[in-house]
Amino acid sequence: MSELRLRSDLVGRTPYGAPQLDVPVRLNVNENPFAPSEQLVQAIGEAVMAAAADLNRYPDRDAIELRKDLAAYISSESNAKVSWENIWPANGSNEVMHHLLQAYGGPGRRLVTFGPTYSMYPDYCRETFTEYVEVNRNNDFGIDVDSISSALALNPDIVVLCSPNNPTGTVLDAHVLEHLVQNFEGLIIVDEAYAEFRDDSHQSALAAYANHPKVVVTRTMSKAFSCAGLRLGYAVAHPEIVAACQLVRLPYHLSAVTQAVARAALAHSAELLGQVALLRSERDSLYAWLIEHGFLVSPSGANFILFGTFADRDDVWQQLLHHGVLIRQSGPPGWLRVSIGTPAENESFRKALLSIEL
Ligand SMILES: Cc1ncc(COP(=O)(O)O)c(C=O)c1O
Repeated sequence: MSELRLRSDLVGRTPYGAPQLDVPVRLNVNENPFAPSEQLVQAIGEAVMAAAADLNRYPDRDAIELRKDLAAYISSESNAKVSWENIWPANGSNEVMHHLLQAYGGPGRRLVTFGPTYSMYPDYCRETFTEYVEVNRNNDFGIDVDSISSALALNPDIVVLCSPNNPTGTVLDAHVLEHLVQNFEGLIIVDEAYAEFRDDSHQSALAAYANHPKVVVTRTMSKAFSCAGLRLGYAVAHPEIVAACQLVRLPYHLSAVTQAVARAALAHSAELLGQVALLRSERDSLYAWLIEHGFLVSPSGANFILFGTFADRDDVWQQLLHHGVLIRQSGPPGWLRVSIGTPAENESFRKALLSIEL
């Protein structure tokens, strides 16, 4: 054992690690199952070659051209009026959130969110020495005005709302967010990693708050946008918050290659988002199928479904794996989460679930 003195709060901890197993049907990390077309692979290759010709130079550390492209995309997707000065991009929305907590969290500051929710929030807090507190969601995994009151009674500096929420899929009601905005002076982060999968009846928080000084919306190209391997997430925020993120980011945090690939992908948004409608309809039919087969299912506005409940969910997970189907043990005890795959993958999941012993 080494004599080196690891930070005491890291002793005995395990790193983030959803299993990366080479099985036929991978439905465990909420990726878009559709790979880019050959033409898009070609376009991305050309963008990388152009960036490679300049690799002796550091990239644009403010990523202005990329931010302009993201602003154009987000304005059209959400009907929000957004300029490049409202955009803060980083290596995945994980890193964006890290920047936000480095700037607005820290020792003596408290973040409150609503559990069960995304498992990385406590880790972002640990890394930024921010206190992490969860208020329980209601039995249906929703949040109402009373949940907001319970959160505010804890005197937070930051409130995080995940919508659609991972792992439950629950979509936030607009009036609940409005109640929070009216009654809280601190930073409000709405994590919309899965926003493009929501139903048309649900507006993004961006529609109302794109330029509101205390509301930040985080988005990613990892999910609907089918670019998880790229590592590109971004915040849509007031320029004052963007300036704060610039204070804490590492120099040149976004490589020239990442910027070039993200811009090439954004130029092909229509193709990359082309399967979102299919994934939504696959989600809705899987939801109906699970109900029909007697499972408890959480209504989802995302590209995954939380279902249960099982006396031994680890055993169910393992049996599915024996059938070549990898899903995720996530959420409260007894529940499992399955990502929406291609129609063939979803069919394999259904067949595997029917064939195992429950
Ligand atoms: C709710 C939520 N937020 C943020 C992320 C991080 O996404 P990324 O860092 O790939 O942008 C995820 C990834 O699974 C997520 O589920």
